[in-house]
Amino acid sequence: MLKVIDHPLIKDKLTRIRKSTTESTKFRENLEELTKLMIYEVTKDFEVKNIDIETPVASTVGYKLKYNTVLVPILRAGLGMVDGVKALIPTAAIGHIGLYRNEETLKPVEYYCKMPPTIKDSYTLVLDPMLATGGSAIAAIDILKKKYNPRKIIFVCTVASPEGVKALKDAHPEIDIYTASLDEKLNSDGYIVPGLGDAGDRIFGTK
Ligand code: PRP
Ligand code: URA
Repeated sequence: MLKVIDHPLIKDKLTRIRKSTTESTKFRENLEELTKLMIYEVTKDFEVKNIDIETPVASTVGYKLKYNTVLVPILRAGLGMVDGVKALIPTAAIGHIGLYRNEETLKPVEYYCKMPPTIKDSYTLVLDPMLATGGSAIAAIDILKKKYNPRKIIFVCTVASPEGVKALKDAHPEIDIYTASLDEKLNSDGYIVPGLGDAGDRIFGTK
């Protein structure tokens, strides 16, 4: 399932991070806010369990999330989405997968992987602002499925290309994909058009 989350505030924040004049601090701020807005929709079908509580007036039934949540940012750029989710799900544990794209082959290269022990029974949100060729998302989900087999995996990005969506759906058809925009295409360098440039460099000011 591909869901493009359509909301005026999301459109506004995405436009801010797309603009090449937006500097790193503002880019990070808007990416965090954009993620927060997206997470409301991403978690819409999370199961809850009933709990008995006391209000100051009476006993009643309350609710809490049935399963733990694990966030897996794909390093580096996925880190820019973590605080936005944590603001709404403060108990979420965080695992990290380090992948970078080889600039010539565009294939992902793994350099780090560390997950919390709770991952097996958790809802796992894989976070990366960019779904370009889909190589990084596919590799991250391959690793999670093979090594940890979480209860459910959801992929959350901000900008996706049609090519990346197709590749990810072909490789992992059961994974729900959420994005703030489905862009036009990839260019010959593997960048999303119109996209927002290199997300990692813009978040961390490395270019
Ligand atoms: C970027 C981005 C994704 C990947 C997307 O990471 O954050 O992880 O490219 O491209 P793909 O869909 O073609 O795999 P990059 O490799 O530039 O690493 P960085 O986040 O450390 O900058
Ligand atoms: N990675 C990015 O950061 N941006 C793109 O457009 C494609 C891959």
